Amino acid sequence: MPDLEEVIKERHSTRMFLPDRPVPRRLMDEALALAVRAPSNSNIQPWQLVFASGAARDRLVAALLHEARMRPPKIPPLPPAFAHLRRELGAQVYGSMGIAREDTEARRVAVLRNWEFFRAPLAGIVCMHRDLGTVDALGVGMFLQTLLLALTACGLGTCVQVSIAGYPEIVHAQLGIPTELSVLCGLAVGYPDPAFPANNIRIGRRAISENVVFHDV
Ligand SMILES: Cc1cc2nc3c(=O)[nH]c(=O)nc-3n(C[C@H](O)[C@H](O)[C@H](O)COP(=O)(O)O)c2cc1C
Repeated sequence: MPDLEEVIKERHSTRMFLPDRPVPRRLMDEALALAVRAPSNSNIQPWQLVFASGAARDRLVAALLHEARMRPPKIPPLPPAFAHLRRELGAQVYGSMGIAREDTEARRVAVLRNWEFFRAPLAGIVCMHRDLGTVDALGVGMFLQTLLLALTACGLGTCVQVSIAGYPEIVHAQLGIPTELSVLCGLAVGYPDPAFPANNIRIGRRAISENVVFHDV
């Protein structure tokens, strides 16, 4: 069992997986058993997950890609004050893939890989009951981070994906997800492709003092 600090530092978003190396079910079961230890409001345990592999994953990807080629995803735009952060991240992520800002075709192709779950053999859908609120989404987030860390500790790569929530009706229809569950995001899980240089980038963080304040008098 690796050290917690090591695992936290090792976790990062993987954007290209080895499609032919399946995720052992035993590892998923072990990671999920740890993730459910996450706290949640009134112990509601609001996380609801659906995973697809094999033919089910391939059908989901085909349907999502078909849709993504026809229309943009329904993802609310970032408020203007935050929009520059997405641009900066895009420059780093696509830059690390060798894609220049003005190369719109290469960028389109790279963005489309979102709906292939970056070729991950295990495609996860993270849902929550539609009647629950922001405080419960916090619980789902805590579960999700614990799951990511547990999977990282097993040598697996992950990517949380709001892009998948951009076509909720496709996801619901393909996987028979009940309408009372809202799709929050996707989760790609698999072994990272070591030959994809962008898998090695580490996205920086702001100074802690920009986000955290201590009052002591
Ligand atoms: C809720 C959420 C949604 C995300 N959606 C996407 C996505 O649709 N596509 C993507 O490539 N990365 C997505 N990410 C990954 C973030 O870009 C990434 O976590 C962030 O840039 C920090 O990088 P790191 O995970 O490598 O540390 C998402 C992350 C979170 C937590």
